[in-house]
Amino acid sequence: MCGIVGYIGTREAQPILLNGLIKLEYRGYDSAGMATVTKGKVSVRKQQGKIAALSNLLKKKPLRGTIGISHSRWATHGIPSQCNAHPHTDCSEKIAVVHNGIIENYEDLKEGLIQEGHIFKSETDTEVIAHLIEKFYKDDIEAAVRTTLKLLKGSFALGVILGNHPEQLIAARLGSSLVIGLGEEENFIASDTSALLAHTKNILFLEDNEMAVLTKKSVAVSSFDGKAIEKKPTVITWDAAQAEKGGYAHFMLKEMYEQPSVIESIVHHRVSEEKSGVYFQEMKIPGKKLKCVEKIAIVACGTAYHAGLTGKYILETLTGIPVEVDVSSEFRYRKPILGKDTLVIVISQSGETADTLAGMREAKRRGATVLSIVNALGSTMTRESDGVIYTHAGPEIGVASTKAYTAQLSILYLFGIYLGALKNYLNIQRIKKLLTEMEGLPQQATQILANHKIIQKISKRHHDKNCFLYLGRNLNFPNALEGALKLKELSYVHAEGYAAGEMKHGPIALIDKTMPVVCIVPDSATHDKMVSNIQEIKARGGIVISIATEGDKHISNHSDYTVYIPKVRELFSPVLTVLPLQLLAYHIALRNKRDVDQPRNLAKSVTVE
Ligand code: AGP
Repeated sequence: MCGIVGYIGTREAQPILLNGLIKLEYRGYDSAGMATVTKGKVSVRKQQGKIAALSNLLKKKPLRGTIGISHSRWATHGIPSQCNAHPHTDCSEKIAVVHNGIIENYEDLKEGLIQEGHIFKSETDTEVIAHLIEKFYKDDIEAAVRTTLKLLKGSFALGVILGNHPEQLIAARLGSSLVIGLGEEENFIASDTSALLAHTKNILFLEDNEMAVLTKKSVAVSSFDGKAIEKKPTVITWDAAQAEKGGYAHFMLKEMYEQPSVIESIVHHRVSEEKSGVYFQEMKIPGKKLKCVEKIAIVACGTAYHAGLTGKYILETLTGIPVEVDVSSEFRYRKPILGKDTLVIVISQSGETADTLAGMREAKRRGATVLSIVNALGSTMTRESDGVIYTHAGPEIGVASTKAYTAQLSILYLFGIYLGALKNYLNIQRIKKLLTEMEGLPQQATQILANHKIIQKISKRHHDKNCFLYLGRNLNFPNALEGALKLKELSYVHAEGYAAGEMKHGPIALIDKTMPVVCIVPDSATHDKMVSNIQEIKARGGIVISIATEGDKHISNHSDYTVYIPKVRELFSPVLTVLPLQLLAYHIALRNKRDVDQPRNLAKSVTVE
């Protein structure tokens, strides 16, 4: 997934484009580039490596001009290289294009263009767009872009400029997010709002099959076939500062420590004063429709999928409705059996994950009602689902998802209580007790996050181990998967999450004195089963790192290290047991000198299949 920023106005474009790219660097960072128009000519600078490499190049060879486009790349077609970096230009080098997405029919298009004499400079799919616009351009850039868009198959968010049209910046989107920022005598495009908040909070969200022609004074949105579309701007509530690090060493660290306040805000804004009910103002799915729900299907990827797996235990406990959970990439192709009494819940931080979007569309096609639980305001999922519940965790910049996860869990608890009340499955006493206990979670989370010394000690001792095993049961089994994912994606150490009851069905063969095993064992119905697992691990020389409830001496007597969480109802324990797992992955990554906020090969939102 790549980052795009474009500008047209009265100010010099270069610093605006560069700073915008820096805000989007979490979206892709194997190469970057920029193009502006001066005196009827397109000038391009591009560089392999991070935005800093482009910034150094621009110091030596700055770009002038008040219109420009820029791009940070996460390679799909063509290796990360200076030549494959965007922007891409046509033969005449009068047209420059930046693109996020995949043009699935680019090879056929490229072959035809080569036969017509076009000379290609890169291995990318994107370059065909520049040559197509060149092919169709007579004297109207908008018309040439429209004709080009009709030929493209796949997904794209595009920014286009043309040397002899310095008064126009063209944008278009199909399947990859693109927003428009509205300024005074200036307008912007970007892959997401974080690149624009320093300049404007008035945002237009482009939808699929829409394009826009920006001048410094106007923005005209239309469908690809030219029908004008009126759009109302959305005012973004969070500010640029919130998207900054706020004094923390990494975005991920800041976001981990924001979790208590995020949970507190979610409970505060969704729960009535007297703790008698839960409210989702923005949801828009009528209560009478939810009352008829007989089955729930949760669809998500990665960390959001782990939230969904935990959500199964949560929602079945609070509503009595059967819940199935799928990774989006499986759900979208397995011909799921859904009906009008099925509620499909898609969970996503970005609201732009390609597989989850496709799963949502498949669910709607099959007649299910779709609720999206999403963090990014105005993202595609929120606009295409039947109802949305925002997690309001604020911008999550670190590629490894942390506060979005605990926010998703918090929303799942509240939604479970909401639906359980609607279905008369929960009585008012149970609701009040649950909501009162939820109010204690932020303070408990703060207590855990303050206790990172033991985590640092474990990381110092075991950061060099080749493989970790994470074990959990019942509500805490998904956190075994989540803890393993965090370690993998941050420190590049192999880690595997497993249902603890499955240990004897295979993974126990891995256990020896080089194998740290993280056991998630809070007070719970399966506590004693976990103790047996821990004893089996110790008997084979394994290193046991336990996440246990304060005061649980039994566990600490059997473990090499014990990280404690405050006493909490088992139902709510996943919100707390995940915190030491996040900290452990963070500190091991630091010790392994990894790039915590931008781990190799990853992107914050996977907007391609
Ligand atoms: C989580 O740390 C990863 N960055 C990744 O698994 C992520 O959760 C997944 O790509 C889903 O993203 P989404 O929540 O934006 O849909």
